[in-house]
Amino acid sequence: MTSVFVTFEGIDYSGKSLQSRLLCERLQSDHRAVLLLRDPGATRISEKIRRLLLDKALDEMAAVTELLLYEAARSQMVAQLIEPALASGRTVICDRFYDSTTAYQGFARGLDLDLVQAANRIGSCGLVPGHTFLLDLDPAAALARKKISGRKADRIEQEGLMFQNRVREGYLQTAAREPDRFTVLDAQVAPEVLHQTIWSVFVQKFDE
Ligand code: TMP
Repeated sequence: MTSVFVTFEGIDYSGKSLQSRLLCERLQSDHRAVLLLRDPGATRISEKIRRLLLDKALDEMAAVTELLLYEAARSQMVAQLIEPALASGRTVICDRFYDSTTAYQGFARGLDLDLVQAANRIGSCGLVPGHTFLLDLDPAAALARKKISGRKADRIEQEGLMFQNRVREGYLQTAAREPDRFTVLDAQVAPEVLHQTIWSVFVQKFDE
């Protein structure tokens, strides 16, 4: 059985959650067994850790604590959900994975990149995505989308424009280092058009 593990990455408001869902629905309409997850989250333990991570009241959280909590949430999701799903031949789509940690805790928070990479290997239990779609967006455009949405910022989102710029740069540098794994997409393109592009990359890579 072929198992496929695909991840979506991007700054907040890049539209990655919508694109993850559209890909999932497209696969389901083809009668494929598919699991859609979000990182951090998806399991009871990981969702509890997510609440800690995003709680604005916890502004004393040290950067290394933050790193380890993201990895802890991820390792539970991998062990409890992703590994069993892949073993039974299901396709797994994950809204964020360890590239988020490289971009946010490595490039934006400034933690040592070798340390982050080592932590990522532990948190992901060595699992590497088969493909990653990076929805690239100018943080100023993301801010405009956020204003329209009326949603309040969580602990990470409230870090501001400079932080988001470093996240974006981190993503782009990561993608440039692994061009075969990444497809970088312009997140300003209409969602239906983006979905078509993602679908054709998916089919070419996994369905031929
Ligand atoms: P989400 O709202 O896209 O689910 O992500 C939650 C927040 O957590 C978002 O601001 C990005 C941040 N994040 C990290 O800082 N490091 C990570 O490893 C992950 C997965 C998310």
